[in-house]
Amino acid sequence: MVGKRIKRVGLVTAGGDCPGLNAVIRAVTRTAINDYGVEVFGIEDGYIGLVKSQGHLLQNHHVSGILSQGGTILGTARGNPFKEAGVADGDYSCFHKVFKNLKLDALLCVGGDGTLTMANMLFENGFPVIGIPKTIDNDVMETDYTFGFNSAVSIIMEAIDNLHSTAMSHHRVLVVEVMGRFVGWLALVSGIAGGGDVILIPEIPYEEEAIFERVIERGRVGKKFSIVVVAEGVKVKGRVMGAEEKGRIKLGGIGAYMAHLIEDATGLETRPVVLGHLQRSGPPTAFDRILATDLAVRAMDLVIEGRFGQMTAQKGNSIASVPIARAIRRLKTVPRNHHIFRSAEAVGTSFGVKKL
Ligand code: F6P
Repeated sequence: MVGKRIKRVGLVTAGGDCPGLNAVIRAVTRTAINDYGVEVFGIEDGYIGLVKSQGHLLQNHHVSGILSQGGTILGTARGNPFKEAGVADGDYSCFHKVFKNLKLDALLCVGGDGTLTMANMLFENGFPVIGIPKTIDNDVMETDYTFGFNSAVSIIMEAIDNLHSTAMSHHRVLVVEVMGRFVGWLALVSGIAGGGDVILIPEIPYEEEAIFERVIERGRVGKKFSIVVVAEGVKVKGRVMGAEEKGRIKLGGIGAYMAHLIEDATGLETRPVVLGHLQRSGPPTAFDRILATDLAVRAMDLVIEGRFGQMTAQKGNSIASVPIARAIRRLKTVPRNHHIFRSAEAVGTSFGVKKL
């Protein structure tokens, strides 16, 4: 049997959490134990916990009842594992020690671009690693969707739906700031689904006048309110809004900035709404539960097949595997020729520019 060599795999969830991570933990554990007789060592708190050999063996009973829970029962963390281990960047001795300590024959890394970049570095340095893509931002290349995205879209859409009644009652403009660090998928898809009137994404530098014109024009045709959806990563004069913290920019502020701008220029009362971490909270949607499960089961198959350095991915109606290196070449941005722009403009959505 091909999988005989593998006795124990490590499973790490790193970077920002998102709904669907527990579905992965459940599916990896069940497939490993029940299909392959392999043990799963659940690493606690991401790569930071990995270099400290933090975690425990996962049994079937640990993963019972977690499918519908958001977040990750293993915990997660951001940060530099080399620094945590007290070694120089690129000194993989700390990982060699952990693999030996924990008797790991392979490592499954679940995360977004940062986590997958680290996974690929491990692979290139001789570690048997498989990647599973997750992030609410949906910005990982080579997969149609990352799990977490659909759940976040649903949360934002529901918020936009609900905000309509208060915006309408007070004849206000509401600016909804949503996550999406460098790309606009979340703002775009949830904004269209929620019927946002103006959607601003990092890929399309906005023109102030086009935004003002749209909200004023709506007033002229009797619509005395507007909803503007803005991605947190939208730049103002070439810079994102936020504050540097521990070497990383904590994004935030574009909603308030836009609200002031619109109110000053149009005279319409405008308020910002920041959805923040609500977007990453709560149970995963059915779509994300299934995607996470599919990606996880296939990842465990890849371990047994010895196809290290690969990431599982959704391509059309199938679950495929692609080299992690190809998935981390760059972020998956929203292409200007995406079919959704034509549909959105046809139903009256503005992207904050006179002409797309
Ligand atoms: O990458 C996912 C994400 O939710 C981004 O959309 C957001 O900018 C970032 O994480 C926030 O990270 P944190 O929770 O560490 O502040």
